[in-house]
Amino acid sequence: MEPIAHLVKVSVPNYLAGLPIPNSIGGWFRLGVRDWFALLPPTAFLAGLGYMSYRAFCPLGRPACLGRVNLKIKKDIPKVVDTVDIEDISEKAVFCRCWRSENWPYCDGTHGRHNNQCDDNVGPLIITKKE
Ligand code: FES
Repeated sequence: MEPIAHLVKVSVPNYLAGLPIPNSIGGWFRLGVRDWFALLPPTAFLAGLGYMSYRAFCPLGRPACLGRVNLKIKKDIPKVVDTVDIEDISEKAVFCRCWRSENWPYCDGTHGRHNNQCDDNVGPLIITKKE
């Protein structure tokens, strides 16, 4: 713990105190080249920290995870699995793939409203029997 305590209590404060941060806005224009180079490492560190925070917490930074797919169906169980016997399908069965149907696992057309609201293009899975 001693090295970490020294880093936090002595090294970092001494480093920050030595940075050429001006006391006024006009002071930024009077900084020399050497001063600007001294400010590069902490600026890069803060930019990296900000970017990583953005990636971690901003949903738009994670396009593969924009939210939950299943908002309401069987939320009390860990995994929704439905089985339909092919013999129970008469000529055609239309299964929901948008997870918004009130008649799960069958499509009730709710995907149309979802598509309009979310600018999406999901639709059902249609299974037909050959005669
Ligand atoms: S209601 Fe979900 S695909 Fe039609």
